[in-house]
Amino acid sequence: MLLDVTDLSVSIGSVSPLSGISFALDRGEILGLVGESGSGKSLTALALTGLLPLIGGRITAGAVRFDGTDLARLRERDLRALRGRRIGFVTQNPMTAMDPVQRIGAQVDVVSRLHLGLSAQAARARTLDLLTQLRIPEAAAVCEAYPHQLSGGMKQRIVIAMALAGEPDLIVADEPTTALDVTVQAQIIHILTTLVRERGLGLILITHDMGVVAQACDKVAVLYAGRLAEARPVGALFAHPAHPYTAALIDCIPREGMAPGALTGIPGAVPSVAAYPPGCRYHPRCPRATDLCRSTVPPITTGETRLACHHPMEQPHD
Ligand SMILES: Nc1ncnc2c1ncn2[C@@H]1O[C@H](COP(=O)(O)OP(=O)(O)OP(=O)(O)O)[C@@H](O)[C@H]1O
Ligand SMILES: [Mg+2]
Repeated sequence: MLLDVTDLSVSIGSVSPLSGISFALDRGEILGLVGESGSGKSLTALALTGLLPLIGGRITAGAVRFDGTDLARLRERDLRALRGRRIGFVTQNPMTAMDPVQRIGAQVDVVSRLHLGLSAQAARARTLDLLTQLRIPEAAAVCEAYPHQLSGGMKQRIVIAMALAGEPDLIVADEPTTALDVTVQAQIIHILTTLVRERGLGLILITHDMGVVAQACDKVAVLYAGRLAEARPVGALFAHPAHPYTAALIDCIPREGMAPGALTGIPGAVPSVAAYPPGCRYHPRCPRATDLCRSTVPPITTGETRLACHHPMEQPHD
């Protein structure tokens, strides 16, 4: 396994927004991390990339085994060395990753100079090569440009180039295409999936879009209110969702022939950290909830399928 997250918990000050997060990912695989707004996707990304200290957070329990090393036990300095070099992070807003007053080429070059120790000349050659692989036309001219001179789709490709420049084994991409139009979104997803297959990278793709998950991902981890609901191979998850929350998410995917405006979403809302209910956090919205669900946190099963539900829709089989 490239990455194995087991029973991860995160605290920020006195609140505990994440607990019981579990999923695993191998090289050459794409894992979709899904769930409604507030389900804990971005905090999970920060935990995996060692960036929790930036928001005053820390891992309080569980393990994040990355290629044999438990990131939860690393010191900040060692984590920083891994980040960028072995784990690349792509954020939703390219401008948080880019310096507005520095030319594009220099911003990408610095990653391979820092992490791979390349000379200025070798780093630029690598940057040009990466931009070409990401299908950026006129890569040499783009290197001389400033971020504001590029379109949103081009900026997002540059951020992906920055994440790739250190030759990482794992990329965590937090909604890399949400701000882009549908065509550009499809191009970027295609580029990312090709890179994963060709280079044997692992990719964690955070998205709201179950359609993208069905098309691009090998595995899916569904989060709800800061906990894992279900993590499965993608085919099994869509064909036989086991957690009622997964089934509800799949029901929200627009289908052909659906009347316009028929899309409703799941009734109710994800609770905030301050209002996480006892027992299974999904119970107030769950049609299958019983007294057991209201009182007792469902344990997470281990193995290929990870499920936290007292009354699954059906017993999972992969
Ligand atoms: N810095 C913070 N301090 C306290 N609570 C936080 C902090 N950041 C996030 N949270 C809470 O943790 C929970 C998970 O947030 P997170 O941002 O990970 O959700 P998300 O799944 O990424 O949502 P979205 O789809 O809107 O990006 C939310 O209830 C959120 O309010
Ligand atoms: Mg988020």
